[in-house]
Amino acid sequence: MHLSKSDILDMNRIKRLNIINSITGIKPANLIATKSKEYGTNLAIFSSVVHLGSNPPYIGFITRPIGEVPRHTYQNIQENGCYTINHVHQDFIEQAHYTSAKIETGVSEFDICGFTEEYLFDFPVPFVAESKIKMAIKLEEIIPIKINGTIMVIGSIEHLILPDSLVNEKGYINLEEAQNVGIAGLNGYYALQKIGEFPYARPNEVPDFKVVK
Ligand SMILES: Cc1cc2nc3c(=O)[nH]c(=O)nc-3n(C[C@H](O)[C@H](O)[C@H](O)COP(=O)(O)O)c2cc1C
Repeated sequence: MHLSKSDILDMNRIKRLNIINSITGIKPANLIATKSKEYGTNLAIFSSVVHLGSNPPYIGFITRPIGEVPRHTYQNIQENGCYTINHVHQDFIEQAHYTSAKIETGVSEFDICGFTEEYLFDFPVPFVAESKIKMAIKLEEIIPIKINGTIMVIGSIEHLILPDSLVNEKGYINLEEAQNVGIAGLNGYYALQKIGEFPYARPNEVPDFKVVK
């Protein structure tokens, strides 16, 4: 298949959305929990979470443009500057997926989708008790992206919670053992299998590769 820019622009809207959402490959699956004083907790799945440096540890995610549809996650973060990011594991992908439904304001996806609110370390926003790997985040910066109205939300990690058994002595987290999942597009969920680990790539240590045919 070859698609030119005009082929892509001429495509059926849903097909274009699916192909462009899948083309960057596997993305992480995370549930972002927030809380509003007036309406209580909110939970939604996001695949755009990315780390933006480790010292200090900053984490970003992209939210869709703010328009007629209320963006509860974004509104709540603007209101109190705190949120939690919770990994999605294989045993609850379906519940996690349905947090993307446009649930009315004041009804929590924690209740609708069967997740448990877990308050830890006096952090004002709950974690997802079912997640093994989770972070408490404090808002640091909001960057509106002019080209299409999407918004990058950047926060710093206040707390990081994960089982000791999943982290090795070098600090690598075993995401296969955690039974984490990856997302392709907006509704394809993949299991993770670790298939390699290599040393830091120094120029003088690059193996003598043959061209792969
Ligand atoms: C697999 C998947 C990944 C998603 N990733 C994002 C994302 O990265 N950014 C975003 O704005 N919405 C994303 N969404 C859509 C949100 O989950 C959806 O808009 C949700 O209703 C937002 O909830 P809120 O209004 O309570 O914040 C994703 C949906 C699915 C199913």
